Amino acid sequence: MSARPVTITITGAGGQIGYALLFRIASGAILGPDVPVRLNLLEIPQGLRAAEGAALELQDAAFPLLRQVEVYDDATKAFSGANLALLVGARPRTAGMERGDLLAANGGIFGPQGAAINAGAADDVRVVVVGNPANTNALIAASHAPDVPAGRFTALTRLDHNRALGQLAATLGSTVGSLRDVTIWGNHSATQFPDVSHATIDGESVPNLLSARLGGADAAREWLVDSFIPRVAKRGAEIIEVRGSSSVASAASAAIDHMRDWVQGTQHGWTSAAVVSDGSYGVPEGLVSSFPVESVEGEWRIVQGLDLSAFAEHRIAASVGELAEERDAVRELGLI
Ligand code: NAD
Ligand code: LMR
Repeated sequence: MSARPVTITITGAGGQIGYALLFRIASGAILGPDVPVRLNLLEIPQGLRAAEGAALELQDAAFPLLRQVEVYDDATKAFSGANLALLVGARPRTAGMERGDLLAANGGIFGPQGAAINAGAADDVRVVVVGNPANTNALIAASHAPDVPAGRFTALTRLDHNRALGQLAATLGSTVGSLRDVTIWGNHSATQFPDVSHATIDGESVPNLLSARLGGADAAREWLVDSFIPRVAKRGAEIIEVRGSSSVASAASAAIDHMRDWVQGTQHGWTSAAVVSDGSYGVPEGLVSSFPVESVEGEWRIVQGLDLSAFAEHRIAASVGELAEERDAVRELGLI
């Protein structure tokens, strides 16, 4: 094993998602079985003991790939030399809150963290924001990191993507692994548009398979509009209601999927990630919006040239409109 260790910074490492992330990352889930890792855990003072406890347990787990664990309450130190950064630390929403309610509460965290990444992260740093409202927090962080290419800042919509796979597989009696080319468009919020119009299973069109399964094209459309789209888009609230707190292990797993595919490349069709828009599909440049993406040579590339129905265009515009409102709100708050 001769690879150089990769430094991974995890914020909110003393929290729920942090705890679900650390042990999988230390066992090689992002970078594979041959790449050693150094973990930098960032917390606020109230979360330090929990992060320190996790660091003790990491030592006790004796992961062969784990070279070092440091715990910090100083963002500049925690991001120094970071190759990968998972920005999880933020307050989660509780029952009855919308993600927008978190804008002011959590927005203030991401400017200083963006500045710390700008100041000291490695030249190849790649950032995923998990803390909500994730898309706009990524926008805030990127706007404080003028020397880091904008394409290095992303937000997590892989959880929504994976939720869509789970719902489709259950309805069609297929496996998640046989599904290709599902897309989440827009914001990681209830306005997101989970889109199956280009999706396939073993080369067969998912809309056709749904028609066959559900008794015709009208029934399939009704299922998509009335069940599938709202179920996926509001799954976060469903989990909060059923579990009593927001999703943890599935969120951590999705963040690992996002980082693994970014570093190692996508293999079978595209996935979904929120990336800084270059104007593709009419999404205003600079907004951090979810798109169909492939990872090629370590960079997310937006899949181009997809035909969009009037319905899809309308749904995407609604979610992108919300992102523009969030951008305007954080501008008003002086956060960008
Ligand atoms: P949690 O409350 O268990 O943990 C959050 C941790 O962040 C706490 O330990 C807290 O001390 C720490 N923290 C707060 N401010 C910080 C800062 N400035 N720097 C470093 N650490 C800080 O919450 P959780 O369940 O782990 O969720 C974390 C975030 O992830 C929430 O915003 C939640 O809404 C979000 N989330 C996003 C997705 C997604 O798909 N994008 C999915 C699930 C949860
Ligand atoms: C989720 O989608 O589960 C998270 O973003 C948590 C939430 O507030 O919905």
